[in-house]
Amino acid sequence: MILARLVMGALAGAGAVNAAYSIASDADIKRTASDVAWDLLQYYKGNETGQTPGILPGPPPAGDYYWWESGAMWGTLIDYWKLTGDATYNDEITRSMLWQVGPNRDFKPPNVTASLGNDDQAFWGMSAMLAAENNFPNPPKDQPQWLALAQAVFYTQATPDQHDDTCNGGLRWQIYLSNNGYDYKNSIANGCFFNLGARLARYTGNQSYADWAEKTWDWMRGVELMDDEYNIYDGAHVQTNCTDINRAQFSYNNAVYLEGAAFMYNYTNGSEKWKQRVESLADATIKTFFPDDVAYEIACEEHMSCTADMLSYKGYLHRWMAVATQVAPFLSGKVLPVLKKSTEAAVSTCTGEANGRTCGFKWNTGAYDGSHGAGQQMNVLGAVSSLLIAQSEPPVTNMTGGTSKGDPEAGTHSDRNKKNELRPITAGDKAGASILTILVIVSAVSTFGWMSTGV
Ligand SMILES: *[C@@H]1O[C@H](CO)[C@@H](O)[C@H](O)[C@H]1NC(C)=O
Ligand SMILES: *[C@@H]1O[C@H](CO)[C@@H](O)[C@H](O)[C@H]1NC(C)=O
Ligand SMILES: *[C@@H]1O[C@H](CO)[C@@H](O)[C@H](O)[C@H]1NC(C)=O
Ligand SMILES: *[C@@H]1O[C@H](CO)[C@@H](O)[C@H](O)[C@H]1NC(C)=O
Ligand SMILES: *[C@@H]1O[C@H](CO)[C@@H](O)[C@H](O)[C@H]1NC(C)=O
Ligand SMILES: *[C@@H]1O[C@H](CO)[C@@H](O)[C@H](O)[C@H]1NC(C)=O
Ligand SMILES: *[C@@H]1O[C@H](CO)[C@@H](O)[C@H](O)[C@H]1NC(C)=O
Repeated sequence: MILARLVMGALAGAGAVNAAYSIASDADIKRTASDVAWDLLQYYKGNETGQTPGILPGPPPAGDYYWWESGAMWGTLIDYWKLTGDATYNDEITRSMLWQVGPNRDFKPPNVTASLGNDDQAFWGMSAMLAAENNFPNPPKDQPQWLALAQAVFYTQATPDQHDDTCNGGLRWQIYLSNNGYDYKNSIANGCFFNLGARLARYTGNQSYADWAEKTWDWMRGVELMDDEYNIYDGAHVQTNCTDINRAQFSYNNAVYLEGAAFMYNYTNGSEKWKQRVESLADATIKTFFPDDVAYEIACEEHMSCTADMLSYKGYLHRWMAVATQVAPFLSGKVLPVLKKSTEAAVSTCTGEANGRTCGFKWNTGAYDGSHGAGQQMNVLGAVSSLLIAQSEPPVTNMTGGTSKGDPEAGTHSDRNKKNELRPITAGDKAGASILTILVIVSAVSTFGWMSTGV
């Protein structure tokens, strides 16, 4: 037995050229995060001559990534800076986010109109909110400010034009009537709005944001996109009064609601109502998305049918659950050990491709699975950086040292009413916008035999 173990040990040692990263100490975590961040940035070409600042290559077919994912990437890097102290990418973060604000300073740049969902807009808004909450260096005074950008996104989404009464309320997926998916109301669009509302309420102390967040939560429960067991389903169509629920579950939905609920808990000074919601949603999230305590994208991972979008959800899952423990500290004992174990699995996949450290997607395999991309790197970066959450400052508010300037007028100069002024939609744009819808339908049909002629 002992001999066998020695031989095994020697073999394992021989294979150690591709040894997975260590996360054993804070120094190891920072070193690992730094490498993973560097490898992530290799997918970004926006700092090269002739390329568009702020975006990963795309949208398809021009490249793998939709616009929203770039907003998510800058958020991941803001967290990276905040948690590790490494400011290497800060200038690029600021330049990128400001480049993409659009003419009305509300993250609706004309280039992306043709596939612009409320969720896409909000991912950039949430990254701006994160910058405000972490006192990320403020942009020059003549430029839009982080808090004002988050407010602009929120205000545009709260207006009747972007928030109508079909299905008794709630946001549609797409913003513009001409886009495929305009007839779909989904959990992520409403979840991002809920999340931003909760965080703006806590940051500014303005109850109006909290009212909207409450209303959105109630709406989700009302249409049963969130059920009694705290399962969160993808979405439903307005033609059926949102009764044709597509029951696919994605980890970022749970994460965006859990983080928002934790902020509501904090904003309401620890109310029983929000405590119970936070706790139940955390339990449901761990049960559904962390089998054996390792993050697993249940709707698509088994057969690796995940889209590029879905390949990035685990990172938001880790990051937002981690921040939830800062504003709802009672969660720490339940959540942090799971995130730690999941992160150990995550780094075990980072032995791939040419440089021997590229990260994969199937964390529960304990090995590189051959799948690589910006999403996979972002997932591991979010997970590794978030291991430092317990020793990092909680998000600030404007009462506790926040320096970002808000703007009560933010978002009121939106182009939302001027649908006829939008640039014409090309066939390529349409194809792009409809990919997720088609995928959602295919997955719903194959899993539940559900049919629709609505799209
Ligand atoms: C763009 O940024 C990446 C990552 O920081 C860096 O490796 C690369 O050299 C930069 N390219 C240019 C042209 O600055
Ligand atoms: C819009 O696209 C054009 C052409 O690719 C590019 O030059 C410009 O920088 C883009 N604008 C934004 C805000 O990304
Ligand atoms: C915080 O924001 C609220 C709402 O905008 C404002 O009324 C209040 O003066 C701000 N407090 C501080 C300390 O800046
Ligand atoms: C609070 O937010 C609402 C928008 O939700 C805004 O109309 C109102 O002016 C804000 N109040 C303050 C004091 O900033
Ligand atoms: C649509 O569904 C809501 C519940 O989500 C219900 O209150 C409303 O009565 C329904 N409307 C119609 C026309 O069935
Ligand atoms: C939370 O407590 C503070 C301090 O007692 C109070 O000013 C604030 O109004 C409370 N917030 C809510 C939402 O009850
Ligand atoms: C709210 O968050 C702060 C961190 O900003 C934390 O110290 C406080 O305990 C939280 N409040 C509650 C009721 O948990």
